Amino acid sequence: MTTYKFPHDFLWGAATAAYQVEGAWNEDGRGESIWDRFSHTPGNVSNGDTGDIACNHYHRWEEDIALMRQLGLKAYRFSTSWSRVLPTGRGRINPKGLDFYDRLVDRLCAANIEPLLTLYHWDLPQALQDEGGWDNRNTAYAFADYAALMVKRLGDRVKYWTTFNEPSVITYIGFITGEHAPGIKDRRMAYQVAHHLMLAHGLGIQTIRTIRPDVNVGIVLNLWPAEPASDSAEDLAAANKYWDETETLFLDPLFKGYYSSAMYDMVGKNTPKIQDGDMALIAQKLDYVGINFYSRNVFSAKGKLEKIEGSEYTEMGWEVCAPALRSMLVKINSEYNLPPIYITENGAAFHDEVSADGKVHDPRRIDYLKNHFIQTRLAMLDGVDVRGYMVWSLMDNFEWGHGFSRRFGLTYVDYDSQKRIIKDSGYWYMNVIQKNEIDE
Ligand code: FCB
Repeated sequence: MTTYKFPHDFLWGAATAAYQVEGAWNEDGRGESIWDRFSHTPGNVSNGDTGDIACNHYHRWEEDIALMRQLGLKAYRFSTSWSRVLPTGRGRINPKGLDFYDRLVDRLCAANIEPLLTLYHWDLPQALQDEGGWDNRNTAYAFADYAALMVKRLGDRVKYWTTFNEPSVITYIGFITGEHAPGIKDRRMAYQVAHHLMLAHGLGIQTIRTIRPDVNVGIVLNLWPAEPASDSAEDLAAANKYWDETETLFLDPLFKGYYSSAMYDMVGKNTPKIQDGDMALIAQKLDYVGINFYSRNVFSAKGKLEKIEGSEYTEMGWEVCAPALRSMLVKINSEYNLPPIYITENGAAFHDEVSADGKVHDPRRIDYLKNHFIQTRLAMLDGVDVRGYMVWSLMDNFEWGHGFSRRFGLTYVDYDSQKRIIKDSGYWYMNVIQKNEIDE
């Protein structure tokens, strides 16, 4: 048996995002966001599901913090809803919205749970979308003002500030496939949006630092390593080409200060407008980078493989491949000058149900997490500076275009009664955190 011990200050936690858990979409003065508009439009979300109520966390937050305490979490990663605090995106403040996050943060601190705050997890105020959204450069300045508002109010207690969650999902799924809000399919717009997200990140970092130089600032990227189907040079070239064209879109500007030539070649006539000074803002030094990891892509010279023989798949149709996490961490660590890393999301959707004994037995999720924790520890032993791990998710929630049909939680949510039931994986995780080690 091998025991994998983690550093004593390793930050174990779990993550959620505002639109996925809060509900209360039109209560206490909250404004409409692009996800409200998108999910209220028939045909966009499976089963017609919406985040109108979701996990009702807006009203059940105290119970949810009690749940975090029971799990022994050391950290909680959540996002704030821009339209809850600034209903039309800028200008008029909604004090009740700010009070909600203030109470949440106070209670987390009292419970000794480190709050990790993400300012943007995809829910742009609809009023800003009506002015062009992320295609409009002004939205980046509105974002910086929103960041200022939040850090002035919460910066005395929140020490970890993330500007954006997964800019690549916003770009590719929001603006190329159109499967996420705002549901646009326009390649020109997509790459302009990508650049404006980066600009907003840079302006946000500058603003937060000016107001509170003592907090840690970062961004969260999701990375899907591109791996070759065989040892052949052709397959390797296909995998590398894909990585260079898609996964480096944000790594390069953030950590090298320029967009790669592979990106320019691929984007061609859709190259975004970039103004003088933008790249320096974007490449400001960060205190940490969050990495979200779920799976990998595999390529042969003929293209992406749809299915890998012998591999296990989750309910999302994503291949389970923990070793790809280690090799990706080692790769980015050698190719970029990175700040400390936090795994800000990792987890799996499996079919869960409440058994006759009232429990939720999810052995596959336990295996998934265990193997990914171990691969992370191995990457750390390879020299990668990983400081913490946020499991996606604290509880089952609204999984975007899939609605409530995909369950990622350590806790099961019965959406009719809003009852929370800790799954076996939650109890297992509790034990990992307590012992700070894993046996294999
Ligand atoms: C990530 C998102 C998160 C959740 C997981 C499954 O891309 O950041 O909100 O939906 O996928």
